[in-house]
This record gives sequence, C-alpha cells and structure tokens, in this order.
Amino acid sequence: MKPLIAGNWKMNGLAADARALAEDLKASSQAAGPACELLVCPPFLHVPLVAEILGGSSIHVGGQDCHATASGAHTGDTSGAMLRDLGCSHVILGHSERRADHGESDALIRAKAEAALAAGLVPIVCVGETAGERSSGQALTVIARQLKGSVPVGMAAERLVVAYEPVWAIGTGDTATPGDVAEVHNEIRRVLAGLVGEGSDQVRILYGGSVKPENAAELLAQSNVGGALVGGASLKPQDFLAIAASCP
Ligand code: 13P
Repeated sequence: MKPLIAGNWKMNGLAADARALAEDLKASSQAAGPACELLVCPPFLHVPLVAEILGGSSIHVGGQDCHATASGAHTGDTSGAMLRDLGCSHVILGHSERRADHGESDALIRAKAEAALAAGLVPIVCVGETAGERSSGQALTVIARQLKGSVPVGMAAERLVVAYEPVWAIGTGDTATPGDVAEVHNEIRRVLAGLVGEGSDQVRILYGGSVKPENAAELLAQSNVGGALVGGASLKPQDFLAIAASCP
C-alpha cells in the first residue's frame, strides 16, 4: 500500500489562505509523482472550498473531527455524514489537542470512529504519550491502552489508519528518534493484530510530530511507518510536497 501523507491544517488560515494553499497544492502536486497518497484536513469551515478546488485532483480531503452520532441536537458539532457529503474521505479522530482541549476519552474516540465508518469515512485514530509518560517508561503501555480503547472492535483493517503522535513532539520542533519511532510503530502493529485481526499488516501507521522536509526521509524509512501526519509544515505547500517526495 502507498504511504499516506496527511496535512492537518488545525485552526489556521482564513478562507483566502485556504484557497491559496489548495490551489498551490493542486498545481504543484502534479509533479509529486505516484509514490504516496496525499490528504489535507482543513478547518471545517474551509472544507467545502478546499474540496471544490481539489475535486478532480488526486489529493483527498478530510475533517479534523466528527461527532459520535449521525445527527441531532449537538450545537456546534459536525457529523461524519456532513463531511462525507462535502467530499471528505477521511477524518482525524482523537488528536492529542482534542484529547487535551476537549477532554476526549478513548471511549468517545471509539464512538466517533464507529460513526465515521458508518458515514463512509476512513478514521485516522491518533495515539501518543506525553513527555512525562515517556520519561517514566510508560510510552508503550499508554499507546497500547489508547489503541485498545479507541479502535472499534473487529473493524476491517483496510478502513483504518492509525497515527502515532508523541504529544511532546507536536509543534515543538522535537521529533522522536528514528529508533523510538520504529519501536512504537512495531508495538502498534503488534497490538493491532489482536484488534483487527486479518489484514492488520495493511493498516497504515502514520508518524506525526514536527515532521519536516529535513527529517521526513529518515522517519518514513522506519519499520512499520506508513506515512506522516503533518501539522505546521503542511501549511507550506513546498514543504508538504517535499515531505511527500521523501516517501520511500
Ligand atoms: P506539527 O507537525 O506541527 O508538529 O503537528 C503535528 C500534528 O499534530 C499533526 O496532527
């Protein structure tokens, strides 16, 4: 399976910025070649604009979150069906910023992943330890617990993407060492074998946390790394495409 390079635009940019970024990506991505799949996840309000610009291109569009139910009285929320309706193929779920800012639990993230699947979206379930959890030797335990709590039971492997994002590496410029990334990704693969069973080796496991053109090739070359989830560098088209060009 091709690596997936996903851009998480987070809460950045006005409509004119989203338009410029999407148009630039569309124009420049023709040269990016077929080595990987590209996905961008704009803020909800810019999804229609970005989906329209990227329609007909090979760049997928996704959401940054969705609600755990299909519709109803949930002020300010967005359903998976609404994202799908606008042309989204993926949705990021359980990002550490949502776990921290909105108190999202593993159980809620699992419910959201189930709702996303029901809406026809591919969930990108995020896991990752804090600096304190890593320094106290808990990283692998925390990640296994998050996976077991947030991946829907018995789901089809080909519809799942997992992202390993160490909290301390997000937006800090610090990246996990290639050895640490390989260790965690191998552990995620092992845990997934028990959760999704057959075909678990097909689940793409993305690395996220200060991925840049300068470090992408080494990170993407590690065992069981099936792509990257990119924050800051995804707001610069040339950097995002340079990361994509680093796919093995
Ligand atoms: P940065 O690439 O800015 O560290 O963000 C990573 C991230 O959180 C992607 O979801």
